[in-house]
Amino acid sequence: MACQYFAPCDHGAESFTIDIPKVTFGRGVLTEVGERAKALSMTNVALFTDVVLEDGPYVASVKKSLKSAGINFVVFSDIRIEPDDICVDDAATFLNSASFDGMISVGGGSVIDTAKAAMVCAKYPRPARDYFAPPVGEGIPVPGPLYPHIACPTTAGTGSECTSISVLRIRELNTKFVFASPYMLPDAALVDPTCCDSLPSNVVASTGFDLLSHALECYTAKAYTKWGAVENPNARPLTQGANPWSDLAAVKALEIAGEYLVRGVNDASDQEARDQLMWGATLAGMAFGNSGTHLPHALSYGVTHLMNDITTDGYAVKTPFVPHGISVIVTAPATFRYTAEAAPERHLEAAQYLNADTKGAVDIDSGEILATRLIQLMRDTHIPNGLQGVGFNENDINRLSDSSIRQTRAIGNAPRETNRIDIENIYKNALKYW
Ligand SMILES: [Fe+2]
Repeated sequence: MACQYFAPCDHGAESFTIDIPKVTFGRGVLTEVGERAKALSMTNVALFTDVVLEDGPYVASVKKSLKSAGINFVVFSDIRIEPDDICVDDAATFLNSASFDGMISVGGGSVIDTAKAAMVCAKYPRPARDYFAPPVGEGIPVPGPLYPHIACPTTAGTGSECTSISVLRIRELNTKFVFASPYMLPDAALVDPTCCDSLPSNVVASTGFDLLSHALECYTAKAYTKWGAVENPNARPLTQGANPWSDLAAVKALEIAGEYLVRGVNDASDQEARDQLMWGATLAGMAFGNSGTHLPHALSYGVTHLMNDITTDGYAVKTPFVPHGISVIVTAPATFRYTAEAAPERHLEAAQYLNADTKGAVDIDSGEILATRLIQLMRDTHIPNGLQGVGFNENDINRLSDSSIRQTRAIGNAPRETNRIDIENIYKNALKYW
């Protein structure tokens, strides 16, 4: 491709793959679910959601649409935020309790990710953990297709409706890992921004930073041409590096985050901002689902693994709990200060898309300009001040690094070669920003 960032490399990949579901976006599209399900030949649906949403208006709208299309459904709502492998095994048992021929998931990333993984374990029975890559699992590839799946996100962050990834906690290790297969990509995504109308501002902030970081990590990821060429095209990992497709969607998502994140968080009545954030989350999902994320996500798993006694208001979970988007963004300014030297022009462009003032800036300024803009957005949306803001201190850095160093593919997707010492330094520099 005619872009210097994607210049060919010896033994590097010369092609990239794009995989996205059929996406329908707009206010009120949840009412289409029945007809969409019918088109996918669903007759008896497993309707996955969580206990908070179960009796609310979005699930009611989905049920009504399914009923009028003459489709049977059974609700499964035993899904917690930050689901784990045991929760997935239970969901798989539920799926095998009846003869379902379709999946509809209505919820945030936790619900959609559980739905994807549970279908794998139900159709090809094994404990969920067997499907994770070694050393935590057996690395068993998903053998074949799952049920047709319509994913309906209710937050503007995860992008899971557009990816073939499920991020799950392994209970025994108490940390999160990625479980991925092309078969896990939903067939259709119904993205209805109405679902964001009543979200509390701290949820919009956390999920908004998740979308922002998905886009930023895609855009600054190692170029796909720098990953080795794959022998079996069907086995090409979705973490294939930045590519012209992921650029396209990531740039727009960054512009949306730069323009609308603060507005959407601080004013619940700003429908334009919240609708745009939902669209940005979908775009960022389409982007990172075809490029992979890198260090901020890799380092976030250490944060959620070792969180101490932080309490986060507005979530129906017992403490300790750090929402995913916050666990990602607290290390992001320090990360991008570190990665900028490997791809300064990309970091500067990203800062520009986020509405930073880049007038007169040169390459060497790019990390600082991007970090400063992120910190400004964090302050304007009341995000905790770095790792200290979520209960960590200097004494935790070793354990955080031990935990995150296991995320080898994501770490390898960073634009700069990164070792254990580098990770410790990023955590150190992420303790406090202001
Ligand atoms: Fe994420």
